Amino acid sequence: MENKVFHCIDVQQFDYDYLEEICDLADKIREISRTKAGMEYLASTLNHKRAMLYFVQPSTRTFLSFYSACQMLGIKCAEVRDPKTSSEIKGESEEDTVRTFSLFFDLIIMRHPRANFAKTIANLLNNTDHPVPVINAGSGKDQHPTQALLDIYTLRRSFLHRGGIAQKKIAFVGDLRRGRTVRSLAALLTQFEEVKLYFVAPPEYQIGQDILSLLDQQKTAYEITDDFEKVIPEVDAIYMTRLQDEWDQEEGAHVDIDIERFSFQKRHLELLKPDGIIMHPLPRRQEIAVEVDSDPRAAYWRQVRNGMYIRVALIADIFQRDKKILDYYLSNNL
Ligand code: CP
Repeated sequence: MENKVFHCIDVQQFDYDYLEEICDLADKIREISRTKAGMEYLASTLNHKRAMLYFVQPSTRTFLSFYSACQMLGIKCAEVRDPKTSSEIKGESEEDTVRTFSLFFDLIIMRHPRANFAKTIANLLNNTDHPVPVINAGSGKDQHPTQALLDIYTLRRSFLHRGGIAQKKIAFVGDLRRGRTVRSLAALLTQFEEVKLYFVAPPEYQIGQDILSLLDQQKTAYEITDDFEKVIPEVDAIYMTRLQDEWDQEEGAHVDIDIERFSFQKRHLELLKPDGIIMHPLPRRQEIAVEVDSDPRAAYWRQVRNGMYIRVALIADIFQRDKKILDYYLSNNL
């Protein structure tokens, strides 16, 4: 696999071939990690590296899956999650803070409320004598590229025996305007032939015009609606999202919507195709009833687990260990 990613900043970096290769690598890492010997091998591949996890926005899954991914590859981790514990409290700029990390660590994984901050940092480090890779683990309302990778990986695994992701119909439901996971995944799905996307939301939370323009450019079909129950039987995957009301304060507005109309209830299982799947980047509130969890079509817990393997694959690729891992896989007849 040709190394194409140094910094991982946005989904525009990934083409179809890269997605295929990174998903294949994640599958092989999953197989290798099933044995103690395999885990020991993986942990030897990057045990001379150190990573900083700079997460100044809340996170459970992304933080822990990156932490676990680093551990699987033997990378030692440090973290800053509360800027009040760093010298930012003394007035140091965030840029200087992250530049300082680059002097101690070989990789910076960052979640930040500012759109484009990861890109700014990557550009800044490129102009120093010690550039280290930056991975965007969620930036503002804008991009969440590694969530989109794990979502593609989940879709690919789910449709493995149904011809892959091409020609599938995928519905996005909820707060689409402020949902960076939706924006990143919708953009990435343009790489697949004849997919059709449905954006199901009240007008106040519909997907942004920039994403619709991208879909138009790429000739990806889409439909905009607020009729969730009509869409359920038509699609192969439903991607639920929560109301992103942490942005209300910044926007200076709160719009009350009837969440019930945009939530997946137990009765909806009867409307869903027998081989359809339900996804959610999580965390959820009431958009998916807990009774849905035990249905085999509920893919969101599998999605979380997939996040760890795809992030191991991404980091292995960034440090050009992908070929060595593939050699190990083949030489052990896995
Ligand atoms: N999906 C996701 O980004 O979850 P966290 O906010 O818990 O990391």
